[in-house]
Amino acid sequence: MQSFESLITNRSTCRNFSDQGLTQQEIKTLIDTATWVPSGSNNQPWHFVVISDRDKLKSYSDAAKEAWLATLKDNPHMHQYEKYIRDPDYNIFYNAPALVIVYGNRESCWHVYDCSMVAYNLHLLAEENGLGCCWIGFAHNILGEPAVKRGLGVPEQYDLVAPVILGHPAQAKSITSNPNPRKDFSISWH
Ligand SMILES: Cc1cc2nc3c(=O)[nH]c(=O)nc-3n(C[C@H](O)[C@H](O)[C@H](O)COP(=O)(O)O)c2cc1C
Repeated sequence: MQSFESLITNRSTCRNFSDQGLTQQEIKTLIDTATWVPSGSNNQPWHFVVISDRDKLKSYSDAAKEAWLATLKDNPHMHQYEKYIRDPDYNIFYNAPALVIVYGNRESCWHVYDCSMVAYNLHLLAEENGLGCCWIGFAHNILGEPAVKRGLGVPEQYDLVAPVILGHPAQAKSITSNPNPRKDFSISWH
């Protein structure tokens, strides 16, 4: 069994999934465990949406790509990804079998931090369970839209925080270090 330190440093984002799905019970257990994070005033201000319908995910992917293309000039950070979003075969959810969307109640002022910690726990739990996980920032332009939220049954006061895909990696993960080296960071010691 990996030490916790090794789990953290070996975890890496997964973008290639097998066809094998996850059961509702498996996803529910992961979410349940992931919610054991600190939260501001212990508000636990999250709401989850799970989408396992691959056709639905494909249609959200198409809508997100179309919306990014239409707003490319206002979003310079997306220019580096233009070739992906113009590629008709590129699915922003990488054909993963499940998308867990973490929404946070904006009436709780720390909701973004609280829900981000839950999302990171999902990454760690996926790693521990031999699953793949990736936060999909490309989906932020649509999953926070009021009409989309209404369609997904999300109460109005909940903001999108983290869309996270989960599934079984196409290649079983061996314990290897994360291929993305960490950048140097600075510390101001006092
Ligand atoms: C807020 C956020 C948004 C991200 N959005 C995407 C995305 O849309 N598509 C993608 O393939 N990866 C996305 N990622 C994954 C990052 O690209 C990945 O974490 C980074 O390259 C470091 O790799 P690692 O997670 O394997 O350490 C996102 C990660 C975060 C935290």
